[in-house]
Amino acid sequence: MTASPAPKTYRVKSFGCQMNVYDGERMAELLAEKGMTPAADGQDADLVVLNTCHIREKAAEKVYSDIGRLKKADGSKPLIAVAGCVAQAEGEEIMARAPAVSMVVGPQAYHRLPDLLDKAARGERATDTDMPANAKFDVLPQRRRAGPSAFLTVQEGCDKFCTYCVVPYTRGAEISRPYSDLIAEAEKLIENGAREITLLGQNVNAWTGEDTQGHAIGLDGLIRALDRMPDLQRIRYTTSHPNDVTDGLIAAHGEVAKLMPYLHLPVQSGSDRVLKAMNRSHTADSYLRLLDRFRAVRPDIALSGDFIVGFPGETEDEFADTLKLVDAVGYAAAFSFKYSPRPGTPAAEMDGMIAPEVMDERLQRLQAAINRHQLAFNQASVGKRCTVLVERKGKHPGQWLGKSPWLQSVHFLGDAAIGDVVEVDLIEAGPNSLAGRLVDSAL
Ligand code: 5AD
Ligand code: SF4
Repeated sequence: MTASPAPKTYRVKSFGCQMNVYDGERMAELLAEKGMTPAADGQDADLVVLNTCHIREKAAEKVYSDIGRLKKADGSKPLIAVAGCVAQAEGEEIMARAPAVSMVVGPQAYHRLPDLLDKAARGERATDTDMPANAKFDVLPQRRRAGPSAFLTVQEGCDKFCTYCVVPYTRGAEISRPYSDLIAEAEKLIENGAREITLLGQNVNAWTGEDTQGHAIGLDGLIRALDRMPDLQRIRYTTSHPNDVTDGLIAAHGEVAKLMPYLHLPVQSGSDRVLKAMNRSHTADSYLRLLDRFRAVRPDIALSGDFIVGFPGETEDEFADTLKLVDAVGYAAAFSFKYSPRPGTPAAEMDGMIAPEVMDERLQRLQAAINRHQLAFNQASVGKRCTVLVERKGKHPGQWLGKSPWLQSVHFLGDAAIGDVVEVDLIEAGPNSLAGRLVDSAL
């Protein structure tokens, strides 16, 4: 590689989970701090950061094909950085296979992107996949912009080692960011316009910290601290693990009005045999009983989950148990995936791989069940009066789009502005959104 002029514009393309979206925003802030500007839509960028996801199949292939396709209008290649979990898992291979890539940076090391850029400007290719706990958060610049709904990463990594999952390897061990840093970042986000904050973590409810008096607190304590911030109107958190749910977190759902009635609690399967093989350390029944406890304090809570179909050895009866569980819960939304063997994970070595056509068919049946429940949940919302956080303009003149407390997309006509929390009557439901009628001005 030869030395090249310092890049002036950048584009960060994030794939995968919300944590990657957050990381992508933080990388953009770092680049802005370095004096670079975001490339306008449709314009070439001097630097492209591919912020990759490794959770399911063909992630690496997708990265190589993206790298191959990246070209400026004059046919030259932009500077390319590969970040995220594929970078962590396959950094050296990427460097060997893709000469167009100048920088590889893992999810715990992206604060050093500016150093890598300096190296790239000198014509050096560099990889940084260190995992120094918390280090990046100490050096990242302050939050600049925030939409009405902002993400805040509070916890990273995972110690659960579900047998199918790469996250414990790509994101490392569970770490919690310190309380005071989170309060400061939340204040900055609110100052910059955030009205809703979603606390993020691979196991967000494993977050622990110490408040200003030195008392040990869990996620519920952090939620209660955010509740005291006057200009913040809504609090959410994701993703939770059933084993880290505390009494305090359940109680917070009954007591903290700003905590939205929505819980994303992945279960993966309704079969206890499969759950055991997945190393989930909960059963279908213990999961259902946990949900009952949330519902006892917050009867209107909307539930969401993640599912994997076709885990090695999954029988038709075991899959039927998953469908039963979906019916028992009545999810407001859920994500379902075909099992994808991840190199280096225990499940990838297991016998009983399920044929692709069986997986396809099970996925379709599961998604049909989930869609049915989602529509029923939306239909049951019709007639309710609720708040909507306005996030953007709709396609039609005078139309606004936002989210209900239950994370449904709601569109309505009338006088509003982005960032308002307005009251609407929900008047019509579709599978993916609802129509609302504005009750009166902003609350
Ligand atoms: N195959 C399919 N789905 C997976 N997930 C995690 N690992 C795999 C895998 N190997 C799903 C789980 C998890 C979500 C983020 O992705 O459902 O909750
Ligand atoms: Fe992966 Fe399981 Fe950890 Fe979730 S809890 S990130 S599925 S290992």
